[in-house]
Amino acid sequence: MQTITHIFLSLLCLSLVLNPQKALSSNPTSFALSCGNKDGGTDNDGRKWESDSKYLVTSDKSVEAAAQVQDPSVPSPIPYMHARFFKSETTYKFVVNGSSRYFLRLHFYPSSYPDFNTTNSYFSVVAGGVTILNNFSASIAAQALTQAYLMKEFSLAPLSKDSLSVTFKPSDKYNGSFAFVNSIELIPSPELFDLATMVRFDDQPLSVNSANVQTVWRLNVGGQYISPSNDSSGLG
Ligand SMILES: *[C@@H]1O[C@H](CO)[C@@H](O)[C@H](O)[C@H]1NC(C)=O
Ligand SMILES: *[C@@H]1O[C@H](CO)[C@@H](O)[C@H](O)[C@H]1NC(C)=O
Ligand SMILES: *[C@@H]1O[C@H](CO)[C@@H](O)[C@H](O)[C@H]1NC(C)=O
Ligand SMILES: *[C@@H]1O[C@H](CO)[C@@H](O)[C@H](O)[C@H]1NC(C)=O
Ligand SMILES: *[C@@H]1O[C@H](CO)[C@@H](O)[C@H](O)[C@H]1NC(C)=O
Repeated sequence: MQTITHIFLSLLCLSLVLNPQKALSSNPTSFALSCGNKDGGTDNDGRKWESDSKYLVTSDKSVEAAAQVQDPSVPSPIPYMHARFFKSETTYKFVVNGSSRYFLRLHFYPSSYPDFNTTNSYFSVVAGGVTILNNFSASIAAQALTQAYLMKEFSLAPLSKDSLSVTFKPSDKYNGSFAFVNSIELIPSPELFDLATMVRFDDQPLSVNSANVQTVWRLNVGGQYISPSNDSSGLG
């Protein structure tokens, strides 16, 4: 009997180590939105993405469009080939667990879209009252990384309320500027660490407990699409 218990506990520990996600049984909901895509769909990893429409709250002057070309480096048509374009300030709202930290991932494919030249797009993004991107050009950012597409990931501190607003604001400094986004992920993240050591600055620990941080270590690996099954954080 004792041996069986022992084996059982060992297996349990092993499964916790191998699959931390399963251990967090009361995980709050995560979201994976394919923006500007009425039907949503499944990516090449078999992961489901839903349409973003029902999360838009502001009277919506946004436009849905599909990219005209799929760059060979783009790993999957979903969630990259559709985008939502915002000619004026537009907000998404998500029901969240106010005590939980979240990863917010924004995916951009600054390609050519009918009626939108993404090189002319500058915008800011405000999440939970915090400006996470300012005067952002997805086109310049992608060029800097020499990639066709990119992901920006932010770790958002618990909000102490049950909704998160994410607002896209076209820059008013440029005539005809617009904002856009191809996909949005919002993933609850356990407070796994009190001190995160930044990969590039090992001697400078960063307290992330109440801070909103951009997770630069992911951008250092190129900001490439990380398949959920290969995501070392185990949170995907
Ligand atoms: C909300 O998040 C906290 C902290 O991660 C967790 O302890 C709690 O169980 C969560 N509540 C729900 C309803 O998921
Ligand atoms: C997009 O705009 C840039 C800068 O204004 C311009 O150089 C480029 O030719 C335009 N691309 C297309 C496809 O119109
Ligand atoms: C926005 O960014 C562009 C490109 O980096 C830069 O040329 C421009 O001066 C910036 N505008 C503002 C208002 O910061
Ligand atoms: C902005 O662009 C529109 C149409 O291209 C033009 O009519 C308008 O005069 C421009 N405004 C400014 C401030 O440049
Ligand atoms: C996971 O990574 C391995 C090794 O890098 C790769 O061969 C495999 O295709 C990846 N799986 C997915 C689903 O991306």
